[in-house]
Amino acid sequence: MGPKKTKRKLKVGILGCGAIGSRIAQSINEQLKNDCLLTGLFDIDALKANRLGKKLKTKNLTKSSLAQLIISSDLIVEACSAKDTLSLIKKIISAKKHVLVMSSGKLLSAENLFQLAKKNKCSILIPTGAIAGIDAIKSAAISGIKAITITTRKPPAGLMNNPYLAKKKIDLSKLKKEKIVFEGNVAAAVKAFPQNINVAATIALASGCKNKLRIRIITSPKFKSNSHEIEVISKAGKMIARTENVPCPDNPKTSYLAPLSGIQTLKQFCEGIFIGT
Ligand SMILES: NC(=O)c1ccc[n+]([C@@H]2O[C@H](COP(=O)([O-])OP(=O)(O)OC[C@H]3O[C@@H](n4cnc5c(N)ncnc54)[C@H](O)[C@@H]3O)[C@@H](O)[C@H]2O)c1
Repeated sequence: MGPKKTKRKLKVGILGCGAIGSRIAQSINEQLKNDCLLTGLFDIDALKANRLGKKLKTKNLTKSSLAQLIISSDLIVEACSAKDTLSLIKKIISAKKHVLVMSSGKLLSAENLFQLAKKNKCSILIPTGAIAGIDAIKSAAISGIKAITITTRKPPAGLMNNPYLAKKKIDLSKLKKEKIVFEGNVAAAVKAFPQNINVAATIALASGCKNKLRIRIITSPKFKSNSHEIEVISKAGKMIARTENVPCPDNPKTSYLAPLSGIQTLKQFCEGIFIGT
């Protein structure tokens, strides 16, 4: 009998140690430990990376720069809230490393990045995030999509201090019943509600038809959680998918389903078995 072969684990670095990055890092050490090895953490706020490193009980995980993180990793999980996230993703791909992108909104107009990844033979993984139905949208897109409507429902507290609503003189504190606060295309939605951009962007990227998307945002004092409903009309038929999301304990603006979708995408990448997405 020859020596026992040990499987090479995927070295994973975390860029952004907030709600999503922390949850994914923990899962790498737990559910994904047979396939992945957590090799680095980087956050612009060093305290956050250090705090996570301590919580994970692993020494020397914190890196002093993105460049150091890139050197230590095969794949980087992007989970940061930076203005220049797109340029950070570009640095990762330029170094020929795989990247799992949580801030999908940043990829809306990043055709050149997809070409670079193809040239450098590295993967850009985009998890489904806080929504369901991306698998069927991709299949339906092959037949031809006629229309997609995204209806987001949020409690008034989730839309407070929004400059667009203030400009429209919509006072949510006085709201007694359900109200449609926005209806429009992706470009207008991104401008008015940038925090909703990831959901719209993931659907736009999956469907390949940004101009057929309509976005509707509804609020009501009766709504207790965020929900997203997606309706797709295609030559293959009609699809309706709806998620009612529980918020992340560390960041109530982020749905718990979002980090979980990142973890399952990473799992599928390691196993090489792709079910659905
Ligand atoms: N795809 C989806 O459906 C979905 C859902 C929720 C959130 N998101 C996106 O995922 C990202 C992370 O979300 P979160 O809830 O973890 O946010 P968070 O605010 O909890 O954490 C973000 C972290 O990024 C760090 N950061 C900011 N700029 C940085 C930089 N230049 N370099 C390194 N770190 C930096 C911050 O210090 C913070 O710790 C956000 O962009 C958010 O919009 C996507």
